[in-house]
Amino acid sequence: MSIHISAKPGEIADKILLPGDPLRAKFIAENFLENPVLFNEVRGMLGYTGTYKGHRVSVMGTGMGMPSISIYAHELITEYGVKRLIRVGTAGSTSKDVHVRELVLAQAAATTSAIIRNDWPEFDFPQIASFKLLDKAYHIAKELGMTTHVGSVLSADLFYSDFFDKIIKLGSMGIKAVEMEAAALYYLAAKHQVEALGIMTISDNLTNPEEDTTAQERQTTFTDMMTVGLETLISE
Ligand code: HPA
Repeated sequence: MSIHISAKPGEIADKILLPGDPLRAKFIAENFLENPVLFNEVRGMLGYTGTYKGHRVSVMGTGMGMPSISIYAHELITEYGVKRLIRVGTAGSTSKDVHVRELVLAQAAATTSAIIRNDWPEFDFPQIASFKLLDKAYHIAKELGMTTHVGSVLSADLFYSDFFDKIIKLGSMGIKAVEMEAAALYYLAAKHQVEALGIMTISDNLTNPEEDTTAQERQTTFTDMMTVGLETLISE
């Protein structure tokens, strides 16, 4: 076991879906995987391994924010040999053209976090998705008929920011959404030469707080996003 994950060697697949919320990991395991087996309960960060369409895959919560996802992604990659990591989560739209329930595939992630800057103060190191996974996810989402945006996101350290106006300004410069994990995941993927992608559903719109969804609509969008995530995860 590693410090934060109690799985034994071999209990985690080399492809993993990473929702922020551990209860979503449980939901995905119970509703999308065949024969899911729980491999982690440490800190309630539930993780399961099962099969999806005959392919061995895992799903595990990451918690919220870059420090939390960094701990789990680091241990999954360096101690359990995970080679493909796909984050599935929510994000706030920063663009008038990106609406609630729509999908954003994070081609790149800017960040307010010091995690990368501390390692590389002399560079603005770009955080980018695996192009192969991005390309697959885009075509899978399109085939499912989902409204899908591809572009940059902002991975922020604060959910409750005093600088929403600046975030919306970034939106006017092409940043499509704000969330809190992708940049750190992409950085670790680059560092350890594995594949990563962030798939986000828009849950709220910073440019238009009136935009809302019903619980049923949120559930449908969530289910579609899991399908995109799992199909991308098992793609060749
Ligand atoms: N900010 C940061 N993360 C988020 C948001 C947001 O508005 N919505 C969903 N995740």
